[in-house]
Amino acid sequence: MPSEKAVMSASCRFWMQSLLVSSLCHLITAYSQRDRAHDLMSRYPLIDGHNDLALQLRILHNNRLSQIDLHNVSKVATDISRLQAGHVQTQMFSVYVMCGAQQKDAVRLTLEQIDVVRRMCTEYPDFEVVTSAQELRDSEMRHKIGCLISIEGGHSIDSSLPALRMFYQLGVRSMALTHTCNTPWAESSSNLYSVFQRQNDSLTEFGKAVVEEMNRLGMIVDLSHTSWDTALAVLKHSRAPVIFSHSSSHAICNHSRNVPDWLLHKLKSNKGLIMVNLHSKFISCRDEANISRVADHFDHIKQVIGAGSIGIGGDFEGATSFPQGLEDVSKYPALIQELLERNWTESELADVLRRNFLRVFEEVERVRDQLGFIRPSEVQIPSEEVQNACRLVLGRPDPKELPSEQSASSRADHRSAGLLILLLPSLFWI
Ligand SMILES: *[C@@H]1O[C@H](CO)[C@@H](O)[C@H](O)[C@H]1NC(C)=O
Ligand SMILES: *[C@@H]1O[C@H](CO)[C@@H](O)[C@H](O)[C@H]1NC(C)=O
Ligand SMILES: *[C@@H]1O[C@H](CO)[C@@H](O)[C@H](O)[C@H]1NC(C)=O
Ligand SMILES: *[C@@H]1O[C@H](CO)[C@@H](O)[C@H](O)[C@H]1NC(C)=O
Ligand SMILES: *[C@@H]1O[C@H](CO)[C@@H](O)[C@H](O)[C@H]1NC(C)=O
Ligand SMILES: [Zn+2]
Repeated sequence: MPSEKAVMSASCRFWMQSLLVSSLCHLITAYSQRDRAHDLMSRYPLIDGHNDLALQLRILHNNRLSQIDLHNVSKVATDISRLQAGHVQTQMFSVYVMCGAQQKDAVRLTLEQIDVVRRMCTEYPDFEVVTSAQELRDSEMRHKIGCLISIEGGHSIDSSLPALRMFYQLGVRSMALTHTCNTPWAESSSNLYSVFQRQNDSLTEFGKAVVEEMNRLGMIVDLSHTSWDTALAVLKHSRAPVIFSHSSSHAICNHSRNVPDWLLHKLKSNKGLIMVNLHSKFISCRDEANISRVADHFDHIKQVIGAGSIGIGGDFEGATSFPQGLEDVSKYPALIQELLERNWTESELADVLRRNFLRVFEEVERVRDQLGFIRPSEVQIPSEEVQNACRLVLGRPDPKELPSEQSASSRADHRSAGLLILLLPSLFWI
């Protein structure tokens, strides 16, 4: 008869063994799913919809690139080492300027942000600027990180289609119609600023002209940050697919920056894309979140409109809190692993990682090619809709209103000084 002690130790040994086997199994599956995620991402590296590194370069370094090494940047979540570790192949870099610059120097500040992204993406051989779907594909072949340039907020064009066209010339391939401020022609999801608040006019005639001109140019319309009414009006008006570059599911977290199911259906009819934002506030409606909650957004959107309409738009550097395990751009594989564990197929994930975005970009280019016969739009916003002190009203200046040192000079000089003032703004544009 075995002693009580022997029974104890036998059952204990059995228990220990099964624990060991089960945790070993667990370890092996965990490892293999992790490897599967990395393997999948090396075959289908990510195209991410939104990153605000350029804003942080402005805030932390006043855009002085010479002061930092972009391979390894402290106080931010994005640098070359971590983009490579996270299998990020193309990044849409936002050239965002604060809404406070609206009707002031938004255009200059946007130019400066484009400059810093272009410098970053030409001075470091790991990067390259991409301006078409083909260049994006080529950049993958060359093992580069493609930089797509994207404007975040229509205030950056100061209600000017010529300014929009010149931004296109500088390589901008996407524009969010608003940030947290309304523009004179489109409405924001936020009511932070009271300017240009209006009723029943979420996309004005000029706003429609902006969308048409973006379609004609081949610039992707981005609806993240716009009000739902504006988004709906754009979805009705745009001839090309549109994106939400960094927004999540409103059904999972009812933040006004997220997209409700009824709008997702409209997006699907448009063949557009929602690129899920990872910011904790939009994931869990709180300051903390976890990967499981992020995956809930993916599962829900897939259930509503399918994996063919989903992408990823991390919003690193634009937001402050990110879910545990997704703290920086090197962590994307953890999200893909979670989705694999939730039985997403490799084909669905390849779509989410890059094929959906490439499809949308190519369709935007195809619409541009179809519209090639249309000449640049000469639509101008009605002057009463953009009255502000920073807009020069063209006309010969009244000598009496010129600055005092000039009124001391001769009458003949006044005339040439006036002409110079008229010419100066155009000289700055060269
Ligand atoms: C980045 O720099 C920090 C110190 O500044 C260092 O601790 C870290 O190992 C570096 N990381 C890489 C990937 O080089
Ligand atoms: C806006 O539309 C609603 C309903 O369509 C209407 O009741 C309201 O009077 C309209 N407001 C303005 C300012 O036109
Ligand atoms: C969002 O949902 C929470 C419950 O989950 C509810 O208390 C809150 O009122 C909702 N907010 C809005 C704006 O619908
Ligand atoms: C993740 O967060 C949600 C709340 O947003 C919570 O209900 C859930 O239990 C958490 N899951 C894990 C695995 O921690
Ligand atoms: C994934 O599929 C397996 C096998 O069909 C199943 O046992 C498991 O419950 C599924 N997991 C989820 C999260 O659906
Ligand atoms: Zn944003």
